[in-house]
Amino acid sequence: SAPRPLTGAQVLVTAGPTREALDPVRFIGNRSSGKMGYALAQALTELGAQVILVSGPTALPAPSVAHLIEVESAAEMHAAVMARIADCAIFVAAAAVADYRPKQQAPHKLKKHPDTINLQLVPNPDILAEVAARTPAPFTLGFAAETEALETNARAKLERKGLDMIAANLVGGEQGGFDRDDNALLILWRDGQRELPLMSKQLAAREIACILTERYGASA
Ligand code: PMT
Repeated sequence: SAPRPLTGAQVLVTAGPTREALDPVRFIGNRSSGKMGYALAQALTELGAQVILVSGPTALPAPSVAHLIEVESAAEMHAAVMARIADCAIFVAAAAVADYRPKQQAPHKLKKHPDTINLQLVPNPDILAEVAARTPAPFTLGFAAETEALETNARAKLERKGLDMIAANLVGGEQGGFDRDDNALLILWRDGQRELPLMSKQLAAREIACILTERYGASA
């Protein structure tokens, strides 16, 4: 049978979008489908890891991971991650977490009226930065969704947040990224990088899991 180098390692993966409620029926969201994060959770499970998948709302079938925790907002995702991260050796942040949430959540459905509405947004906690700043910190793989200057922006995120690895994808264009079956990624770590050309998210996830296993082993 295939080698299972991550046997015994507990890995926490975030996936999917978050929804930031405006009122009981409306939210601010994004185009993440969860496909990239679910494929990674699957690939890491195949390598023997005990995967805890913390997922925002998706239309995907539940993958065969050790634990699936479903959340809606960034605040809920933050709480779910922080409650479990202490036992994890590896953290993979594939979720598209909202950077902001509405300052107020209306208790009842907002009424339509003829004037312009001003929406006040307040920052959400940065889950990845908080996990990477822990002592001891797990091995951390972050993602970077960029619309330009992929390598420069991703390397800046790697260094600013003190990550072990970052997987950068160009989003908002014709190929790859949000809500597609394929993705092209640039994987960066402190002293190296690998380019993954456009391929299925399943295949890309296996490649990323392989590189991660190698870097994680080298960090021990
Ligand atoms: O879900 P799919 O449709 O398959 O699409 C996959 C994807 C494009 C969503 C995925 O490949 C991806 O890039 N995920 C990260 C998207 C993102 O929010 O990137 P960012 O550059 O804004 O954030 C950088 C990193 O910080 C990410 O690892 C993110 O999970 C993390 N983060 C961001 C904000 C926050 N409040 N908390 C976080 O943990």
